[in-house]
Amino acid sequence: VRVAPPARARERELAERVVASFAGAPDDRLRHLLQALSRHLHAFLTEVRLTEAEWRAAIDFLTDVGHITDDRRQEFILLSDVLGASMQVITINDEAGDGATDSTVLGPFFLGDAPVIERGGDIAAGAPGEPCWYSGQVTDTRGTPVAGAEIEVWMADETGRYDVQYGDGRRAGRGRLFADEAGRYAFWALTPTPYPIPHDGPVGALLAASGRSPMRAAHLHFTVTAARHLPLTTHLFRRGDEFLASDSVFGVKDSLVTDIRHPPAGTPAPDGRDLAGATWSSARFDIVLAPG
Ligand code: BEZ
Ligand code: FE
Repeated sequence: VRVAPPARARERELAERVVASFAGAPDDRLRHLLQALSRHLHAFLTEVRLTEAEWRAAIDFLTDVGHITDDRRQEFILLSDVLGASMQVITINDEAGDGATDSTVLGPFFLGDAPVIERGGDIAAGAPGEPCWYSGQVTDTRGTPVAGAEIEVWMADETGRYDVQYGDGRRAGRGRLFADEAGRYAFWALTPTPYPIPHDGPVGALLAASGRSPMRAAHLHFTVTAARHLPLTTHLFRRGDEFLASDSVFGVKDSLVTDIRHPPAGTPAPDGRDLAGATWSSARFDIVLAPG
């Protein structure tokens, strides 16, 4: 007579059969990924003793994530972001080292075709907020200026929204410019303020159920590209911001936290711009590109 194996042995045997089912995948990398995924998935299921109701809830959750995703909203990436998976992949693949500027998440509001502005121009383009003068130099890891580096920047306004979130086709709070012969750049934008990631969908519900805040630490996004260098995707974070330690997508790196200074009232703007008595701030953010 055959005796049914005890439950734990049956679980182990099923997991092993799933892993083995991928043994014939001809692509080495695909086989490795699917077998490791099977092992970790079954280890998770058996460790937490997942109930059938929990399995159903997880399927419903992922279905909701799919249903809210379209060509303008990517809830799967948002889920990856709040689970720290996006930052972990960036960390694993960070080839920069050697003093190059650290990278962080791209986020969903990059467009790639922001209007080109002159050096010293204003990317705010009417977006509400306090003006901030950003300047710095793009160099390589040996300190040599990277002339002509292309810099794209984008940010939320003081109401916490990116231009695309207004849904009326406006373009504001984003721009593209080129570093000069000495790698120097400067532009006007806004003093960054904290804002929530989109939290009206299933990822927001997950955060709420976990007692987690959707807030991102105040930041300005950069992508920097130049021939013969690795492209860089990063943020400038505002020193002193209350959400630096609890950024909802784990994007903060200490090296990116930057002073935003407010000069004494009445100080003329660095480029002589007439700010009509409004307060303004400034930040210096040097960028180091790794060799490509
Ligand atoms: C952002 O900074 O724009 C962002 C990043 C990740 C998820 C949502 C928003
Ligand atoms: Fe952002």
